[in-house]
Amino acid sequence: MRILVIGSGGREHALLKGLKADPSTTELHVAPGSPAFASLAQVHPEYSRVEDPAQMLELAQKIDAELVVVGPEVPLVAGVTDVLRAHGIAVFGPTKAAAQLEGSKAFAKDVMAAAGVRTARAEQLVPGCSEADIEECLDNFGPHYVVKDDGLAGGKGVVVTRDRIAARAHVDEVLIAGNPVLLESFLDGPEVSLFCLVDGETVVPLLPAQDHKRAYDNDEGPNTGGMGAYTPLPWLPEGGVQRIVDEVCTPVAAEMVKRGQPYTGLLYAGLAWGKEGIAVVEFNCRFGDPETQALLSLLKSPLTQALYATSTGALAQLPPLRWEQGYAVTVVLAAAGYPQSPRKGDAITGEGLDDPERILHAGTTIADGQVLSAGGRVLNALGKGATLEEARAAAYKVLDGITMEGGFYRHDIGLAAQEGRISVPEAR
Ligand code: GLY
Repeated sequence: MRILVIGSGGREHALLKGLKADPSTTELHVAPGSPAFASLAQVHPEYSRVEDPAQMLELAQKIDAELVVVGPEVPLVAGVTDVLRAHGIAVFGPTKAAAQLEGSKAFAKDVMAAAGVRTARAEQLVPGCSEADIEECLDNFGPHYVVKDDGLAGGKGVVVTRDRIAARAHVDEVLIAGNPVLLESFLDGPEVSLFCLVDGETVVPLLPAQDHKRAYDNDEGPNTGGMGAYTPLPWLPEGGVQRIVDEVCTPVAAEMVKRGQPYTGLLYAGLAWGKEGIAVVEFNCRFGDPETQALLSLLKSPLTQALYATSTGALAQLPPLRWEQGYAVTVVLAAAGYPQSPRKGDAITGEGLDDPERILHAGTTIADGQVLSAGGRVLNALGKGATLEEARAAAYKVLDGITMEGGFYRHDIGLAAQEGRISVPEAR
């Protein structure tokens, strides 16, 4: 099968690695990709406008793609899937209408209310609202303020703070940028990322994972796109994945079908499992980054077949997914200044840079044979092991062999779980 992957980050590198390993893949292309992906796929840097359906269609037709896998949310929300499907190409990713589950937090809340799915209480502020509206809205929340950009921010437009002045500053920043703001009640309990393949009403969960959103150890510092992840979750109650599927993913998939906007692709449920039970923090309409990098390293089933079945209405016929026993961990090496203003152009040296079993590239480029940083999250070190402790040790060993001026990473990815410090609170 000839496949085009859209995107250029660590998630796409992981997808390419998985697709390449499936014998049914005959040709692999990526747009715009990264020079570091060249050992797995033909890279098309000239097709860089991933939000432009016409440009993506041109490339898909040029290479006669039989399957297009869309990595990031931007092309999905821009309607790339709709245009490619209208031209008879199978696409892994939801339509523009269905991608609103990520693109508009207000839309997601509406779907959840109709589907009876628990989520945070929320109020929206729109550009042009009054000073009094803003202050009254802030009065209704706290002491933990959760302030979200209701435009599309790839998980980066969220500020969680106990500081009302910081919360107000983010409200102002988003409104001035012309986007609506959502204020939400804080959800307690450990966070779970559950990714599901969804094809209409058919829902197939992958392993549960946990991301680490804050920039520094002990969950300190600003929110980021994600600094590291581990899978599966040793602390999740027995039957926990099925409960999430039954209480969240299946009702939402059914509601989308009912609305005439059936969901196809990857539904990412970001959840908090607190005293009151499972609640949705957010949905994303794509594979999460960096959880995907860890998750796919444990998948034994052929990835191409799974994504193609999802894209063509055949997910219900797919054999059950098979996974390696044990754990996988990924740790992000970030550039100096990330997330506020990451520095680019730092040289990266060391072992494993050309081995996708150990390192997946997220924000790098290659100039005169030298690997250089080219983004905030630069690369993902991968480790696997029979225990979480072994998987963590393997990932950190990879990072020990890498040097990058100003680069930093968290030292505690998966540590709380390894030490048994995470548990689901007892139900009231
Ligand atoms: N894991 C965070 C994200 O993909 O948005």
